[in-house]
Amino acid sequence: MKVYDPDFGEYITRTDSISIYSSEALTSTNKYKLNKCSVILLSGLRLSRTKGANMELGDAIYSAVTTRYFSNEPVTDEHLHKAFDYARFAPQGGNRQPVRFIVVRDQDKRNQLAELYRGPWKAYLADAQTGDINIGSDKAARLLRNADHFADHLEEVPVMVVACAHLEDTHPTDTELGRLSVVGGASIYPAVQNFILGCREAKLGASLTTLLCLFEPQVKELLGMPEDAATVAHIAVGHRTKEFPTKLDRMGLEDIVFSETWGASTYG
Ligand SMILES: Cc1cc2nc3c(=O)[nH]c(=O)nc-3n(C[C@H](O)[C@H](O)[C@H](O)COP(=O)(O)O)c2cc1C
Repeated sequence: MKVYDPDFGEYITRTDSISIYSSEALTSTNKYKLNKCSVILLSGLRLSRTKGANMELGDAIYSAVTTRYFSNEPVTDEHLHKAFDYARFAPQGGNRQPVRFIVVRDQDKRNQLAELYRGPWKAYLADAQTGDINIGSDKAARLLRNADHFADHLEEVPVMVVACAHLEDTHPTDTELGRLSVVGGASIYPAVQNFILGCREAKLGASLTTLLCLFEPQVKELLGMPEDAATVAHIAVGHRTKEFPTKLDRMGLEDIVFSETWGASTYG
């Protein structure tokens, strides 16, 4: 018998034997349907088809907010293992795999990183408050307050993950255009985002920052990095003090997806 699985958007073959799965193993969306055996079966199939993943991809993407308030609960290598595993499956030009991660837990190193971070952050904050920098949000005041708290407590976040890359293993195709080259980043930041989504799945908050890249020479020395590696992002990781939100504040599809010509909104 074929039944439609709404989570996968496809018809699947239903077997005769119906297994009962614990309600804990079911997603909250399906819990209310517990009395329907077919749905119990579908949920069980879904768990086995996602090979141990405990979160829907869309749920992770919609809620992977920047975390700026962390508890001091430790984060183990085991907690981070899946997130790093997701990171290594990101695409990169020519599959040259330029990205490396350094997990920093040492308190002295984190103190030094936090101290370096606060310099440019406080300058940025001052410019944002006077309007010299447009941070593009009508919720700017709250964002700045939260980000300032984050800066003031950065050394207390249990883990700082320093994302690095061998730049010669990126393949920038836009270096001759007379504008800022960004294509090299396309071999780097998908891995960083996969890592962040993996953190979200592991119920770990993360905050992506790039201000510390200003201090690449100091960070390279602090972490014993080779000459040919660059720092590309610093991701603070820890347990959140609040629940994750269910949706982030972003532009609508009508403003960002065009058909054939720039500005001709596909979903407007
Ligand atoms: C390239 C980049 C650099 C960022 N740098 C910082 C930073 O230095 N400090 C910070 O608090 N947040 C930083 N962020 C987080 C952004 O502020 C955040 O992604 C954005 O405001 C969206 O907020 P949300 O995650 O709460 O939806 C950075 C994000 C990106 C993509």
